[in-house]
Formats: sequence, structure tokens, C-alpha cells
Amino acid sequence: MKRVVIAGEINVDLIFSGVPELPQFGHETLAQSYLQCPGSSSMILAMGLARLGSPVRFIGRCGDDPFGRFCIAALRDRDVDTSLICADAALRTGVTVAMSAHADRALLTWSGAIAELSADDVSDAAFAHADHLHVSSYYLQTKLRPQLGELFVRARAAGLSTSLDPGSDPERRWGRELIEVLRHVDVFLPNQSEACAIAGVDTPEEALRALDNGTTRIVVKAGSRGAMTLEDGQLLFAPASAVQAVDTTGAGDSFNSGFLHAWLQDLAPLDCLRWGNACGALSTRGIGGTATQGTREEVLALLGAK
Ligand SMILES: Nc1ncnc2c1ncn2[C@@H]1O[C@H](COP(=O)(O)OP(=O)(O)OP(=O)(O)O)[C@@H](O)[C@H]1O
Ligand SMILES: [Mg+2]
Repeated sequence: MKRVVIAGEINVDLIFSGVPELPQFGHETLAQSYLQCPGSSSMILAMGLARLGSPVRFIGRCGDDPFGRFCIAALRDRDVDTSLICADAALRTGVTVAMSAHADRALLTWSGAIAELSADDVSDAAFAHADHLHVSSYYLQTKLRPQLGELFVRARAAGLSTSLDPGSDPERRWGRELIEVLRHVDVFLPNQSEACAIAGVDTPEEALRALDNGTTRIVVKAGSRGAMTLEDGQLLFAPASAVQAVDTTGAGDSFNSGFLHAWLQDLAPLDCLRWGNACGALSTRGIGGTATQGTREEVLALLGAK
């Protein structure tokens, strides 16, 4: 089984469900339930990969505080190697408050230590025991961002393949820099609004064509519709797996875990999309990003049921 190293962000999700209305200044609103969950894109991916049986090592920075310790413990509980996570007393672990009502949810994030990881934290020694390097949240990891092309070049020189999930740009600037970085990326995993914004086009298919550089496998996630990629210039589309979705938090990151787990075993592109869809769907069965992530057996059962 190929070994994955993730250079990633760490934060906690505090999820309030059954919120009757958005809280207003000067008022108190009562939620029906509350859950504290591992939150960041990279942690959800790491835990999803580990659930499938891929060996995963996490490189990151968090505060030496209760939220940081909660995150490290959650990763360890899934057998993710946390020996390269630095819990720094000078930092504080970030947090997202998610308020989820019947139809929609509102998120409030304080990003804490997320921006603190730099390429210097990713030593060549970390590559010695890995086959693949993944990075998520390009726009939030602001220290790592300008160094990312160089980091991927270093990883490839050490024999690793590479993948990137851009996540959303909170500043809505998007920019052209990421397109340059893609030259060093084997698998690029945006959702459809990210793909369209980065490519400056209106539809996911146009984005796939606009971002195609002849080497990067570009995969666009389309929520409850499924996911797509280009193969020999033709659109390959795999519809979402049917599940009773309860909470889609982190579905894109669980999709990444399924797609990469399959891709690292050299499965065909359509099968990789199916593994991604199955893992995305399975993760929506419960509240939070990681509680109901699928095992290999659950994925095979869901795919066999098609
Ligand atoms: N309601 C759903 N039912 C089944 N599968 C779903 C549903 N919502 C999402 N998925 C699966 O999860 C994948 C990723 O979803 P989405 O496009 O929302 O990613 P994202 O916006 O990056 O999510 P994230 O919030 O994790 O960043 C989809 O491609 C699909 O396979
Ligand atoms: Mg996403």
C-alpha cells in the first residue's frame, strides 16, 4: 500500500445543529445539539485515507492547547502518524463554529495556527518514508502557498507523486499563481465553484478544459451530482452514490481520500471517481466530517450495489 504524507492545516469544528435562526447581535439563540469534531480539510482527508487502510503521516502545526491535543488524539485514534506535528505553545489552534439549520449552514472561522506551516517544516527526511505528498487549503496556508511549487518539485525529485485541493479563497482573488503550481501536481481536486473561479469560466466542463495542462489529472467535484474528469479529451462523469445525507461537511475531503486511495493503486480514472463518490457519500451519513467515513468494505458494498 502506498504511503501518503500530508502537509496540512489543523482546526476544530464546533457544530451546532437544529439552529432555528441565525443568531442576532443582542439576542441568544438555542441550538438543539452540539458536537466537537476534527475540522480541517487535511485532517478529514488524513482520517478518511487511514480508514481505508492507506498509511498516512501528517505534517502540521497547531497550538499546544486543548483543541490542538484533541486534533492530534483524533488523528492518532485513526492510526495516522502524528510524529511530525508540532504543537507549539506560542500558537493557538484555529476553530470553526458551524451553525446548521434545516436548509443551510453558516460558518464562522478563526484560522489560528493554520497559516503557520512552511515548506521548511517538510524535511527531505519526511519524503524518505512516503510515496505521495498531498496539500489542501491552498488559500488558507498562506506561508506555505508561495513555496508550494518548490515543495512539489522537491517531492517529485524524491520520487513522490503529488496532489492538491485548493479549497475556497476567502478573499475571492483566486489569482493565476495556482495555475503555475499545477505543473508540479499529479492530481488536482477542486469543487466546481473553485474550478470555475480559478479557470475564470462558467461551467465545470469548461474549467476541466481550461485547466488541462496535459499532465495533471484534474478532478472536479460537483456536490450531490457526483464528480468528473477528462480522459483523452472526453468528459468522464460519475454520478454521486445514493445515501441519506445528514451533513455534507467535509464530503469533498472524504471524496479526496477515496479518489487518492484508488489512484495510488493505479485504478482506472472512472473507478477512481467512483471511489471518491462513495467515500464522499458515506461521510455525509452523520454530523461532522470524519465520524461516518467509509471503510474499504463499506465502499465495496456501496459500489457493488450500483
Ligand atoms: N448529498 C450528497 N449525496 C451523495 N454524495 C454527496 C452529497 N454531497 C456531496 N457528495 C459527494 O461528495 C463529493 C464532494 O462534494 P462537494 O462537491 O460538496 O465538495 P466540496 O465543496 O469540496 O466539499 P467540502 O465542504 O468538503 O470542501 C461529491 O463529488 C459527491 O461525491
Ligand atoms: Mg472542498
